[in-house]
Amino acid sequence: MTSDLGGPDLTGDRIEVRSSGPLDGTLVVPGAKNSVLKLMAAALLCDGTTRLTNVPRIADVDIMGDLLAHIGLRVSRPSPDRVELTNDGNITPEAPYQLVERIRASINVLGPLLGRYGRVVLSMPGGDDFGSRPIDMHIEGLRMMGAEFKFAHGELTAAADRLRGARIVFDYPSVGATENIVMAAVTAEGDTVIDGAAREPEVVDLCRLLVSMGGDISGIGTAELRIRGVGRDDLRPAEHHTVSDRIQAATYIASVAVSGGQLTMLDARADDMEMFVRRCRDMGIDISAGTAMLGDREVPSMSVTSTGRLRAVDVQTLPYPGVATDYKPLIVTMLSVADGVGVVTENLYPGRFRYVEELMRLGADITTTGHHAAVRGRPRLSGAPVRAHDIRAGAAMVVAGLAAEGTTTITGVHHIDRGYDDLTGRLAGVGADIVRRHG
Ligand code: EPU
Repeated sequence: MTSDLGGPDLTGDRIEVRSSGPLDGTLVVPGAKNSVLKLMAAALLCDGTTRLTNVPRIADVDIMGDLLAHIGLRVSRPSPDRVELTNDGNITPEAPYQLVERIRASINVLGPLLGRYGRVVLSMPGGDDFGSRPIDMHIEGLRMMGAEFKFAHGELTAAADRLRGARIVFDYPSVGATENIVMAAVTAEGDTVIDGAAREPEVVDLCRLLVSMGGDISGIGTAELRIRGVGRDDLRPAEHHTVSDRIQAATYIASVAVSGGQLTMLDARADDMEMFVRRCRDMGIDISAGTAMLGDREVPSMSVTSTGRLRAVDVQTLPYPGVATDYKPLIVTMLSVADGVGVVTENLYPGRFRYVEELMRLGADITTTGHHAAVRGRPRLSGAPVRAHDIRAGAAMVVAGLAAEGTTTITGVHHIDRGYDDLTGRLAGVGADIVRRHG
């Protein structure tokens, strides 16, 4: 079975970008990849049709749709920004390797399948190319709720007659483990407390959907989530607007930061990216938050102005509300053309510096030692062919191309497509010299 979300295979495409004059215009920030994929998985928790709006047009939504269709949901896209997932109870709780290896978020079917259907067979997840990303916290939390796990031949088999509420203490606020435990706990027997829960806006968005479905969750947005289980079949489908994507918003801020100019972003939530905005202001970017009308909806907006050269700052990545690791390639790129030396410290993914070699091909002056990158700013970079190694690194290459003399040609564009809804179109729409060439 496959979903009918479609999605082109654009593996051979490339993006050509040139240093552009000041950017000027307005764009709408799409819904968040790291929210919508989990919202889609939550449709497993109830019978009937879950309706999601503000869904970004990205490849990961298509892949997640295929995975959920394989498991037994009917998945359709009645309009470009809506996805509907219908659960007729025809569920086979198995996620095979050929789908799971394409997307890390496939791990998010573990909690809802185990909670509602009592059994899961899951190939171990793949996803991004930045080092080992274990799932021990997911497993440990679900074990405390009564699940039993076996691992053989690359497959994880989990079983539980009925999960029981438990007190689960995380020593690190894992986004994926928090989401899995919440989705498992919402139909478990009794109360679950997650102490040390992740507080990311995307976790909040998932909890809000679960509450609209009839889940009983308190402490949403705090480090202590309390979930009172309802009956296994007591949740009902809901319609939900996906929260806007703070990382895509940050990409447009970085683009205007290195190009100069002014940009108004609609459906951009400054409150969800406070520390990033603070660091950007320290670099000399003027950012103000407000509201604006988008059709008949009042939405949060941000206005971004950049004039003159950026100033170097030091930044470290941390779980929310700290500066997210996903912003880091953008920050390193901005620092590559800032005045002075900035030190960027990665605290989440040890291997997430691969894009640095690509930036150095563009003339960036960067020294990495362990978790640290020291970036000495240059007035301009110099265009060259580069490769996108993952989603965020790919977006950073586009921003770097805007800061480089000559042409920067980016391959590995399929990585960018996993998380960005028409990055080239949106940037071209505000005056960037950027074009996508097909395979
Ligand atoms: N970790 C463990 N054990 C676990 C779970 C996590 O050691 O059981 C470690 C990971 O190895 C990593 C750190 O904890 O070093 C963070 O992992 P977390 O579970 O918080 O992240 P995730 O759920 O796997 C999501 C996003 C990532 C984003 C991180 C951090 C999705 C699909 N992915 O991953 O997004 O970087 O949170 O904010 O939501 C991206 O969008 O490009 C991306 C990689």
